Amino acid sequence: MSPPGIQAPRGTFDVLPEQAAERDVVEQAARGVLEAAGYARIETPAFEATELFARGVGEATDIVRKEMYSFDDGGGRSLTLRPEGTAPVCRAYVQHGMHKLAQPVRLWYLSPFFRRERAQAGRFRQFWQVGAEALGSDDPAVDAETIVLLADVLEALGVRGLGLRLASLGSPEMRAAYRDELRAYLHEHEDSLSRDVRERIDLNPLRAFDASDSGTREVMAGAPRLLDRLSGPDAEHFAAVRSMLDRAGVAYEVDGSLVRGLDYYTRTVFEFESAQLGAQSGVGGGGRYDGLVQQLGGPSTPGCGWAAGIERILLAGERRPVVPPAVELYVAFESERLRDDAFALVSDARRAGLAAQLELAGRSLKGQLKQAGRVDARFVAILREEGPALRDMESGEQRDIDAGAILAEVLRGRRVR
Ligand code: HAM
Repeated sequence: MSPPGIQAPRGTFDVLPEQAAERDVVEQAARGVLEAAGYARIETPAFEATELFARGVGEATDIVRKEMYSFDDGGGRSLTLRPEGTAPVCRAYVQHGMHKLAQPVRLWYLSPFFRRERAQAGRFRQFWQVGAEALGSDDPAVDAETIVLLADVLEALGVRGLGLRLASLGSPEMRAAYRDELRAYLHEHEDSLSRDVRERIDLNPLRAFDASDSGTREVMAGAPRLLDRLSGPDAEHFAAVRSMLDRAGVAYEVDGSLVRGLDYYTRTVFEFESAQLGAQSGVGGGGRYDGLVQQLGGPSTPGCGWAAGIERILLAGERRPVVPPAVELYVAFESERLRDDAFALVSDARRAGLAAQLELAGRSLKGQLKQAGRVDARFVAILREEGPALRDMESGEQRDIDAGAILAEVLRGRRVR
């Protein structure tokens, strides 16, 4: 009896060839938009020191408290499969002295991330994000630029039912004062709050805005709003971002209840949602993180960026038929004796730059021709005992040919197509 089959872990998935082709479309659209705006690709390791995320993302966040895949590397160091990309990019910025380059340094990535979340439609334990980070400028134009670029990427991919929520969290000092105010308010209404929210009043009171139970929601409807407390340079910064988005024609809703699941944000935060998606409606989000680089041991450096989930883009986006790559030459052979000749011909064809395939399944000659039709081959070279023939699959015409003339003929056929 054979042992039971092994399945991919819960919350993970295989990217099968057709899906890989769809993902290539997303990658190309993102690359096109981002590189035209001066963003250069960066990739960081799939695992990092656990401390990077504890310090960067924040000890009080759900991600750090319960969603990280952390392990001992065997030498007493704790490593973590990266749950997000911003802290690693800031780590790389510091490690490679990128503050010495012309600022802002603009970087983008497309990589897998890992969170131990409850798996459901659109929420996985390994998922892919395309992300962009601009480091070294606190100009509100950077905030507006990143938002417009994400809007452009999503639009290019036909993501439907999009809405953009926008808010500002102000400075850390202002936020600390506001948190105290909110804590006091929540304590006043403790009896109406869910247990989960009540337990986290002191740790992370802002998360109460995210709660879905009716008791907490009612309390939160009357809660003080951070946006109403914005003042001075923070308020001016937010107004400048909004004004640029208006000029760029990007619609948004200012939403003081917007809560992001990461602690590093200062000032601008935003999230794109799609009505196409169910409960997991966030397609992409981000914001400004002016304290993060310094928090990780680097020079004081402002930053701003976003990440969008590839799977959610695909779920909410327009499906485009993926055209399989054309086969220009299919090499068929009549008998085993001609197999090496066929192998040599297909190798030469590929070296000449042709998309060529060789019969590999031991089919009869008739079966091989059928297969050539299935893969929509433009030409079939048929190696026979009496010498080769070339069949033009478009016209159906077949004629004898010198072995040495096959490639030139196929290349010529390609040019006139
Ligand atoms: P985030 O909001 O945690 O932000 O994730 C960004 C996007 O990744 C989400 O909008 C969603 O599309 C996708 N995503 C997150 N978790 C999952 C999951 N479990 N399954 C499928 N997709 C998921 C960040 O990660 C920040 N690093 C964004 C950022 C960049 N902020 C500044 N710069």
